[in-house]
Amino acid sequence: MDTTASGPALLKQLPPPLPAERIIAVNQPKADLHTTRSHEWNGWTFEVPPGVFMPGWTSRMIHERLLDGRIDVRGRRYGAMGVGLGVEAVVAGVRGAREIHAIDIHPESVATTVRHYERLVGEREGTALIPVVGDLFDGLPEGVRLDVVTFNPPAVSQTVSDDPDVVRNVCVGASLPARFFAQLNEKDLLAPGGEVFLVVSNTADLHTIIRHALDQGFTPRIDHLHDWQDGVVTFLFRLTRGGRA
Ligand SMILES: C[S@@+](CC[C@H](N)C(=O)[O-])C[C@H]1O[C@@H](n2cnc3c(N)ncnc32)[C@H](O)[C@@H]1O
Repeated sequence: MDTTASGPALLKQLPPPLPAERIIAVNQPKADLHTTRSHEWNGWTFEVPPGVFMPGWTSRMIHERLLDGRIDVRGRRYGAMGVGLGVEAVVAGVRGAREIHAIDIHPESVATTVRHYERLVGEREGTALIPVVGDLFDGLPEGVRLDVVTFNPPAVSQTVSDDPDVVRNVCVGASLPARFFAQLNEKDLLAPGGEVFLVVSNTADLHTIIRHALDQGFTPRIDHLHDWQDGVVTFLFRLTRGGRA
């Protein structure tokens, strides 16, 4: 696969979703979602309350890049979509983002993010955490524009559980990233030069997701591709507006 392809040429190369039974097998929900768990990363310990998503290897692809600057948030306005436990917000605070919009539809995830941020980052001049509970960008204050947005969406294409918390965390499907791109476009949320980083695998309908991004005027490129050697291939897409790279 030509990992330098962009736009419609990239779309043509994307793999189809894995067979349904394979998707269901690799996304079996853990039985402990409704318990308090613990997440350790980068020397930090995060308590994970019931219902809050436990970051996995895919989450880490974004967390590591925020930390080492491959996703640059310093001095920038950052939207952490579907922030979950809040690791992205903590890293962005440590890195000195100007604004950190920590967004999730799940109030307990946003409250958890605030707690971890206050504990690990605290007051920092030139950096503001703005917690937002809402469906995608609906709760964002008027007039906000963003320089960088990350999203690890619950885009798995098969319903792997009838537990609404599992669905919210894992398998809403391609309709969510589709609405995400439509809102970014219609609300004109991305500042000039802005970047969107979206992490999705072939357990999701990659074609539909990237086609929606193209329809909304984004130019997608593969920033990173990881083959887990079990049939699952995860893509970190970097999307910009129009033809700009
Ligand atoms: C796969 S988890 C990712 C969490 C965290 N970013 C990470 O990588 O560890 C998806 C997150 O999206 C949130 N979410 C689901 N639907 C949403 C929506 N419509 N608007 C905002 N957030 C949503 C979930 O509550 C969950 O926290």
